[in-house]
Amino acid sequence: MTLSTIELQLLESPLPPQVEQWISACRARIELYWDRFKEKPLPQYIECDFDLVANAIHECVLRDLIDGLLFVEWGCGFGVVTGIAGLLGLDAIGIEAEEFLCLQARQLFDKHAVPAEVWQGNFLPRGSRELAEEEDPLVSLTHTIEPAYDQHDMPLDDFAIVFAYPWPGEEHFLRLVFDRFARPGALLLMFRGPYHIELFQKR
Ligand SMILES: C[S@@+](CC[C@H](N)C(=O)[O-])C[C@H]1O[C@@H](n2cnc3c(N)ncnc32)[C@H](O)[C@@H]1O
Repeated sequence: MTLSTIELQLLESPLPPQVEQWISACRARIELYWDRFKEKPLPQYIECDFDLVANAIHECVLRDLIDGLLFVEWGCGFGVVTGIAGLLGLDAIGIEAEEFLCLQARQLFDKHAVPAEVWQGNFLPRGSRELAEEEDPLVSLTHTIEPAYDQHDMPLDDFAIVFAYPWPGEEHFLRLVFDRFARPGALLLMFRGPYHIELFQKR
């Protein structure tokens, strides 16, 4: 692999108030979803620590680590992190397979005037499956939907930064996909669990 680790300092520089407000509005919406989970069970959905991820993206912006503006979230759920990236000045796109979640994210963006977009589709570029050493635990491979990049004529190597919250056991596969399809210099930010976030750069 050609990925090198960049150490995050996570000094928690104060986030812009719009980002704080956006995170609390989204939390309220997601709370409602969990209260009514049985009406629309989506077992692959689970949210990351939005504050931690917002701090990490903010740090990438403040330290000028991103060599471009195009941001993509792999599996954006309600679009919270995509919205954070948009509010921090990036050209933010979230890719999500589930139609319900795409609708929710779009509604939240519209309601809160957040500059971000959602593409319904597969975040895995065509050819990713061949990189999987063992398909069994890889939930991202269970979606048969077409790659979102094709419909928008924007391949993954147009993007300067990718954010992903992989299911346990998928992180290595997602790193392989990024390593194969992202462009040199691009960043991969991965939330791995409580207090655990990683940043890689493709050399
Ligand atoms: C663990 S959740 C993370 C949600 C959000 N990124 C966050 O951090 O709060 C993973 C999301 O990815 C979506 N997903 C999984 N595999 C996918 C694929 N191949 N293409 C598009 N979306 C996918 C799931 O529907 C789910 O919403």
